[in-house]
Amino acid sequence: MARVTETSYLTAVRESYDTVAATYAERVPEPAELDPLSRGMLAVFAESVRLAGAGPVADVGCGPGKVTAHLAASGVDAFGVDLSARMVSLARRAHPHLRFVQGSMTALGIGGDTLGGVLAWYSTHHTPPALLPAVFAEFHRVLAPGGHLLWGCHIGDEHLRPSQGYGHPVSYEWYLLSAERVAELLGEAGLVVTARLVQEPEGRLTRRHACLLARKP
Ligand SMILES: C[S@@+](CC[C@H](N)C(=O)[O-])C[C@H]1O[C@@H](n2cnc3c(N)ncnc32)[C@H](O)[C@@H]1O
Repeated sequence: MARVTETSYLTAVRESYDTVAATYAERVPEPAELDPLSRGMLAVFAESVRLAGAGPVADVGCGPGKVTAHLAASGVDAFGVDLSARMVSLARRAHPHLRFVQGSMTALGIGGDTLGGVLAWYSTHHTPPALLPAVFAEFHRVLAPGGHLLWGCHIGDEHLRPSQGYGHPVSYEWYLLSAERVAELLGEAGLVVTARLVQEPEGRLTRRHACLLARKP
């Protein structure tokens, strides 16, 4: 089996999301249509960030920018970062008043201690688990003291290699971890996990999923 290197997985993720971007943007629900608990966690995150007043929020792996725009509409100074140029271009077109940049959560190119919040919303599950500590260390680095992280994603213990995504060929892989393991990794990165929500499959979501809220001390 070929070893997954950082470069090869990022290339696969970028190329796959460039391919599926337009279909993904059509199909992904508006944040207002998400389940009440997920909407609640986004609202808690937005309020925590506003109250902390520690700086802007990066929506890391923002895709077409729907959640970035949702945060901005709730009074948060939010911008988006995504690996896929096609996603960034769709986000800019849909939300021309907001800033979207192409970049990777592995090296955000943002100064240390500068962000009031990092949102990683269904965007870390393509990162091989061995590389997640570096991603979470990057989130910790860019957050200002008192800044908040909201992580939301599918959870489990599977490694999936789908050949299709949103009806298109894809080469990304899925690495699902338990909420406990993600919380442990966030703690090891120096973040304090302040809330955990685990949800069973329901409605559109066919897998278990979780939200973790954490703070940089
Ligand atoms: C399932 S989509 C979620 C998009 C958005 N957060 C949403 O909820 O609609 C995953 C996104 O994460 C992005 N992504 C994955 N790995 C990334 C990385 N290392 N750096 C930046 N973006 C990444 C992908 O390009 C894709 O747009």
